[in-house]
Amino acid sequence: MPLLEVTDVSKRFGGVQALNGVTLGIEAGEIFGLIGPNGAGKTTLFNVISGVYYPDGGRVVLQGTDITGLKPHEICGRGIARTFQLVQPFAEMTVLDNVGAGRLFGREGREGRISLRRARDEARDLLRFGKLEGREVRRAATLTLSERKRLEMVRALATGPTLLLLDEVMAGLNQAEAEEMGEIVRALPQAMRLTVLFIEHNVRLVTGLCTRLAVLDYGQIIAQGEPEAVVRDEAVIRAYLGDRWARRMASRA
Ligand SMILES: Nc1ncnc2c1ncn2[C@@H]1O[C@H](COP(=O)(O)OP(=O)(O)OP(=O)(O)O)[C@@H](O)[C@H]1O
Ligand SMILES: [Mg+2]
Repeated sequence: MPLLEVTDVSKRFGGVQALNGVTLGIEAGEIFGLIGPNGAGKTTLFNVISGVYYPDGGRVVLQGTDITGLKPHEICGRGIARTFQLVQPFAEMTVLDNVGAGRLFGREGREGRISLRRARDEARDLLRFGKLEGREVRRAATLTLSERKRLEMVRALATGPTLLLLDEVMAGLNQAEAEEMGEIVRALPQAMRLTVLFIEHNVRLVTGLCTRLAVLDYGQIIAQGEPEAVVRDEAVIRAYLGDRWARRMASRA
């Protein structure tokens, strides 16, 4: 049984069919990449999975349980955490408290199983994992973009997810920062025992990172499978990667 099954999900906003019969299965322990042009429906799919939007049709099943239409905090309680495309840490709180709050309001925290002290200690460990040691007492607002992106991820991790949804955590980063983030994402399944579904525009980084890859275009999955095969798919080149990419691939082959 896949960890997450998205079956025939559709979502319309007025005249825009943002998602049109999307079906995906994510296996436990995977790093599953999702790419596609601007406006393809990638973030909308995250919003449906995480309970921000109710789909017009279809369902979302986590470990065999239908979670379609649950509220965001209920879905967080079932073990799905996410980051936002526009990072939204508590700007005036310290880095440590941002993560400690995630720990307290996550699954175990809300069940009263975590003391304030333990939340802080575990937050420190998570910050080390996110390469944010030494930043604990800074206000979140004073971090660089790259640090804020990592904080956003660590905050999501703090809720103790089994599935982590990452929405463009590398966007706006320079090459070195993006690669550093890539290393952290690569370490996630083993280090945190979780599954990753991530949206990314940097195709070279995605293909090097994910176990499987799917492409959304106008709300539909136009290809999915092994990353190397997907980026050679003609429909994907036409819809998203473009001729320049195709020529580069050909010259490398
Ligand atoms: N709350 C909303 N109200 C109206 N239209 C929306 C809403 N959210 C998304 N849309 C529309 O749905 C379509 C898909 O948007 P979405 O944000 O999911 O795309 P995306 O693939 O994440 O794009 P990007 O790569 O630019 O982040 C777009 O046409 C967008 O304008
Ligand atoms: Mg988006």
